[in-house]
Amino acid sequence: MRLETMTGADVALRLRMESDPQMMAELGGPRPKEAIERAHASSLLQAAAGECWPLKIVPDGAVDAVGTVAVWKRSDDPGEMYEIGWMVLPEYQGRGLATQAVREVCDRARRERRFGALHAYPGVTNAPSNRLCEKAGFTLVGQVEVEFGGHRLHCNHWRIELS
Ligand SMILES: CC(C)(COP(=O)(O)OP(=O)(O)OC[C@H]1O[C@@H](n2cnc3c(N)ncnc32)[C@H](O)[C@@H]1OP(=O)(O)O)[C@@H](O)C(=O)NCCC(=O)NCCS
Repeated sequence: MRLETMTGADVALRLRMESDPQMMAELGGPRPKEAIERAHASSLLQAAAGECWPLKIVPDGAVDAVGTVAVWKRSDDPGEMYEIGWMVLPEYQGRGLATQAVREVCDRARRERRFGALHAYPGVTNAPSNRLCEKAGFTLVGQVEVEFGGHRLHCNHWRIELS
C-alpha cells in the first residue's frame, strides 16, 4: 500500500464513497454531491496552506486508489487540534489497508514533527473504526457528541500523541 496526495480529480473517489449509504451508515448517511465537492475543494486549499493532508490509499501493484485517509484542522476548535478520518471501498475492506494507512500517517507525522497529536471520532457502533484506532495505538479519551453534515453523532473520542 502507498499513500498519495489527492488532487482535484480525486473528487470522483470521494463522490463514490460519500454518496454510498452503506459507507456513510456511521456518518449520518450519504452527503449531498455539492457538500462533497465543497469539502474536497476546501481540503485541497487547506493542503496548499500546509494545514491538511488529503491522502488516497493505493494498494500494492495498483494504479487506482481504493480509499482515503485525511488529517485536517478542526474548525470548531480555537486551538491547534487535528482530526484524522478514513474510508476504504467495500470490496477492499478487511485487508488491513486502513490500519496500514493510518499507521503510515502517524509515522510520517512523527518524522516531520507535525500535529502534536491526532484525534479520531468514530461512531460508538463503528466497530471497524474503533478496532482500527485500538490497533494503530490511539487511546480512548471518552464519548462525545459530534456534529457532522447536519447530523449529531454519538462518537468515541480517540487520541494519539505524536511528539
Ligand atoms: C473503517 C474502515 C475504513 C476500515 O477499513 P479496512 O481497510 O477494512 O480496515 P482494516 O482491514 O485495517 O481492519 C480494521 C479492523 O477492523 C476489524 N473489523 C472489520 N469489520 C469489523 C466488524 N464489522 N466488527 C468488528 N471489527 C471489524 C478488522 O477485522 C480489523 O481488526 P483485526 O485486524 O483485529 O481483525 C472501513 O470499514 C470503512 O470505510 N467504513 C466506512 C467509512 C467509515 O465509517 N469511516 C470511518 C469514519 S470515523
